[in-house]
Amino acid sequence: MNATEARRRAREIIAESSALAVLTGAGVSAESGVPTFRGAGGLWRGRNAWELATPEAFRRDPAEVWEFYEARLSGLRRVAPNEGHRALAALEATRDRFWLLTQNVDGLHRDAGSRNVFELHGTIRVARCSDCALETATEAALRDWSPGGIPRCEACLAHLRPAVVWFGESLPAAALRAADEAIRSCDTFLVVGTSGLVQPAASFAFQARRRGARVVEVNPQETPITQVADVSLRGPSGAELPALLGKEERTLLTPRTADG
Ligand code: APR
Repeated sequence: MNATEARRRAREIIAESSALAVLTGAGVSAESGVPTFRGAGGLWRGRNAWELATPEAFRRDPAEVWEFYEARLSGLRRVAPNEGHRALAALEATRDRFWLLTQNVDGLHRDAGSRNVFELHGTIRVARCSDCALETATEAALRDWSPGGIPRCEACLAHLRPAVVWFGESLPAAALRAADEAIRSCDTFLVVGTSGLVQPAASFAFQARRRGARVVEVNPQETPITQVADVSLRGPSGAELPALLGKEERTLLTPRTADG
């Protein structure tokens, strides 16, 4: 299938879908300027994210782990959702049955207007007490923070930690339930910008496919998910996702005027 044929087929599948599940990964935020984990710019001080995103790293050196997340959060203050995020919000607005499962912790899907979003790996915007589990906005927790510091819980003074899922930890139960429902109920499973290497999200498309869903992939690179995809669009999601929209959905993408 050439690229034009693939786009036509993918548009057709999305138009026919009445129960659409979407899984996104870091690639959907790449065009907003957020580096992916396994691509260029994925290192922090020469280290991979997954060396710091672990309970062991936090036990060993919580101040360093907070420096890493503070750097990511300040990067996020300068970015905005891109056309790919906005296209997914437009797809949702025209459908009754829609699930957006994301591995991203950046919050950009909600900023773009997506509503039925399930953050499988938590969110960087919330910090949680490592002892009493009280949650607080990360921005507020870091207000008086400086490198070397560890924000503390207002209630019990234990260390706060980012409310993200670290390697080896279980995913939030509500997000897992939503993923299960989406996989069982969807007729189409759209996978965007994930390398498909981290479980359990990596297996969702395979499960949906086994239950009879069509699978559409958007990723400039081939991934393990490609083998179960009916169609793979080999371009950036900021261009490929808007091209999937129907006429009614495209009107929802009209840029907003300066006064909103
Ligand atoms: N549009 C679409 N996809 C893109 C784009 C783009 N503009 N740019 C890059 N990609 C693709 C890459 O080809 C790659 O397959 O996005 C994918 C990003 O892969 P990863 O960096 O591995 O990110 P992700 O799959 O989200 O990682 C999963 O691993 O480190 C953990 O918890 C972290 O949630 C993360 C999980």
